[in-house]
This record gives sequence, C-alpha cells and structure tokens, in this order.
Amino acid sequence: MTFIQSPVKIRRDIPFFYDKSEDEFRTDAYERYEDMVVRQSLLHLADEVWGLYPFQKIIDWTIENLPSKPNIQMADVGCSVGRLIAEIAQKYPTSECHGLDYSYQMLRQARDFWVKGKALDLDFGKRGFGSVQLKGKTLSNLHFGLAKAEKLPFENESLDVICNSFLLDRVDNPLEVLAEMHRVLKRGGLLLSISPLNFQKAEHWNDFYPFSKLKEQMQVVGFQLDRGEDEFVVRELLDKKGNFVEWKCVAFSVRKEY
Ligand SMILES: C[S@@+](CC[C@H](N)C(=O)[O-])C[C@H]1O[C@@H](n2cnc3c(N)ncnc32)[C@H](O)[C@@H]1O
Repeated sequence: MTFIQSPVKIRRDIPFFYDKSEDEFRTDAYERYEDMVVRQSLLHLADEVWGLYPFQKIIDWTIENLPSKPNIQMADVGCSVGRLIAEIAQKYPTSECHGLDYSYQMLRQARDFWVKGKALDLDFGKRGFGSVQLKGKTLSNLHFGLAKAEKLPFENESLDVICNSFLLDRVDNPLEVLAEMHRVLKRGGLLLSISPLNFQKAEHWNDFYPFSKLKEQMQVVGFQLDRGEDEFVVRELLDKKGNFVEWKCVAFSVRKEY
C-alpha cells in the first residue's frame, strides 16, 4: 500500500508536495537563510557550542510518549532543520520517518546534514561563536519534503504518529491543521505536540487559549487526550553571553479514536 503522495516537483532532491510560488517564497520569513536557517541550525545542530542540546527536553518527552512497536510511520510537521525527527529516526531504525516543512531552505539544511551526511560550515559570528564545522549523518529511514501542515501528503489513516514542536501557534489556521493531522493518522494513532501558544493573531488567543480551550477544540476534531502538561518550560539559548528566551509551553499527547 502506498501511503505518501507523489510530489508535484523536485528541487535539488527536495520533493515539493505543495507548489510554492515565487511570491510565497519571498514573503516567507523562514526562507531567509542568514536569519532563520542559521538561527535554527545554531539552536538545533550546534550542541558543541552550548555543551548540550538546548531542546533536549522536547526530544525526551516526545520519545517517552512514542509507541514501543517497530516498523511504524511517523512524521514531524514543521521540522525545520530536522533535529526532532532525526532523533526519532535513530531510535526507530526500522520505521519510516518524515520531516515536513513549508521552508525549502530549512529542508535543504536538514537533508544535507541528516541524510546526505554533509559537513556544514556555519558562521555563528553574529552570536559570538565564530565559524563552526558540524559533521552530518546518513540516516536512510529519514525523508524530508516540502508541504503545508494544512495539506499533508499522506493518504487517509496512514500514519501511526505525528509530532511537532513550536508549530501550532505559527500556522494560519490551527484548527484546520489539527483536522488534517487527524485525517492522516490511523485509528489509535498519536499526535504529540509541544507549543508555547505564543499566537500571532487575536482570534487564535481567543479560540485556543488557555490550554482548556485547545483541549476542547481537539475533542471537536475527534482526538482523545492521553496526556497534557500546561507548564512545560524550555529555554532557547541565543548567544555566547548566555542570553535566552524561556518558553512556557503546553505539551500534549492526543489519540485518534479507534
Ligand atoms: C518556530 S519554527 C519551529 C521549528 C522546530 N520545530 C522547533 O521546535 O524549533 C516553525 C517551523 O514551522 C514551519 N512552518 C510554519 N508554518 C508552516 C505550515 N503551515 N506548514 C508546515 N510548516 C510550517 C516553518 O517553516 C518553521 O520551520
């Protein structure tokens, strides 16, 4: 059975499941390499400059909540440079893992580093660290593709797990995204999500905050709550001085009804 749809085009080995226009490229802040991709690479790939991985707590929580069975289908939506789904792919070497994002530049970095095993030479001078060489990996069960969270490139009821971090408060329509995730999950499939609920639109604050409202919305879509935490704090480290942003996230695991 095929569960993933065919791409509309392929650009430098990245399959596009959405035909992103030149205008959409221009207006998407996450396509800015110097600003966004370098920032995400410093946070997610450059453990050696921090002496730790700043978002390790997100990896630990997600992996702790994954099913223990092998050979499953999983996707991280809004994966950026791919750290979370790459960690999962290494823990689950016989499972198929998909990293999807709307930013081509993020995906190129992710694919070069996690799949092609390229060494990245990154300049973190603006953050006080100078230039850093990062050695990549060659994970064969990890696949990256460009897609919108609102239209995932999977057949109905084809995935066992969808995870995401720092995505739900960045999309135009969180309810549409939750419904789309529900569509592609198998019955009994899991959605694992971590978000600071740092919404950018007044109507999203109104509809999805506090956490109790988000939980209600998930029930409307057809999810059952397995586990939810309202005070899941993570620290985004910013520079050599040790400045940081602390995010007060919600972390939840919900299940599509059997
Ligand atoms: C704030 S970053 C979070 C990245 C990473 N998951 C993390 O925890 O740091 C949001 C990511 O979601 C992606 N994104 C934003 N809107 C999206 C959408 N509608 N569909 C898919 N990806 C989206 C962006 O390109 C970006 O890589």
